[in-house]
Amino acid sequence: MMGKEQKTFAVLTGGGDCPGLNAVIRGAAKTLLNHNCKVYGVLDGFNGLVHGKFWELNYANLSGVLPRGGTILGTTNRDNPFHMAVQKDGKLEFCDMRDKVLANLQKYNIEALIDIGGDGTLAIGAKLARECGVKVVGCPKTIDNDIIGTERTFGFDTAVAMAMDAVDRLHTTAESHHRVMVLEVMGRYAGWIALYCGIAGGADAILIPEIPYNIESVAQKINQRRADGKQFSIVVVAEGAKPVGGTISVSRVVKDSFEPLRLGGAGNKVAEDLEKITGVECRCTVLGYLQRGGSPTAFDRMLSTRYGVAAAEACLRGEYNVMMSLQNDKIVPVDLQIAGSGSRNVPLDSELIRTGRQIGISFGD
Ligand code: F6P
Repeated sequence: MMGKEQKTFAVLTGGGDCPGLNAVIRGAAKTLLNHNCKVYGVLDGFNGLVHGKFWELNYANLSGVLPRGGTILGTTNRDNPFHMAVQKDGKLEFCDMRDKVLANLQKYNIEALIDIGGDGTLAIGAKLARECGVKVVGCPKTIDNDIIGTERTFGFDTAVAMAMDAVDRLHTTAESHHRVMVLEVMGRYAGWIALYCGIAGGADAILIPEIPYNIESVAQKINQRRADGKQFSIVVVAEGAKPVGGTISVSRVVKDSFEPLRLGGAGNKVAEDLEKITGVECRCTVLGYLQRGGSPTAFDRMLSTRYGVAAAEACLRGEYNVMMSLQNDKIVPVDLQIAGSGSRNVPLDSELIRTGRQIGISFGD
């Protein structure tokens, strides 16, 4: 693999961080370095692409990053180069910064960009490819597992493991105090984390955005358990869950973000309402950023490394405007435009939901 240095590539991580990002960066960069390419990491996601924050990656700065959570490149879930927030005379304005992006890619002689991110980051990558002719290869990142075109995003397995551990821990305290324990987990508008950790942890009810819930129905499940001699219950609530005819719980609005709404509060609402109806003491735990932090599981390290290597291989083949995806346990390229076109929810006819129902889990409907 020795020989003349070939093309130069850039790697960027965008959106919320998640376990496995460093493993993807490492997998992609090592593969490219091993083929005599030059590789830059773009710092702080699209902010760095606009402002020219490029950092050359080498074997030394890639060493030891595989098990590390977060991203060595930094990230942001605010900056969209096509609609970038800038303060002008104390006011927030949004500007199209695509010219700066193109100038920086030219300055560093970048052949193609490996765009590691969730649906927002991938949609920006898809637009850069579509409207500006940038060569882009995407890798599907997010704990939410909600990206179109892949069966699994990296980071999800680690988040589920963390959330399942929380469900296990809540069981012992719930049982001791004869309480209802509500656990709010992340996932934005998709219920994947709640569904997986709820089934894996043995929750009694799982409320997901895809199935608006009726609180009376959840209360009935808790009362039935009490009638059967089970004095405690565990309810897992996705942050995007909402009651039938009701609205989603929003915790804050981040004005300069390309996706301004941040979700939160669904778990507390469920706990309060359940306590009123059942008369049983209810407590809510919001798991929050613990789901995103820390070291990736073995599954996520493998998946991330495979995505990174496959993205680099696509670059070496000159195959662009694609996203790496997991299908039937194989990594295959899919159209980046499709991947960046929306988000993937739990199908209502999913075998997972059926599995939950068969073992008596309530989905609040
Ligand atoms: O997309 C990942 C995620 O952690 C979601 O599950 C959550 O809703 C959101 O990001 C939180 O965003 P922020 O980091 O801006 O609070």
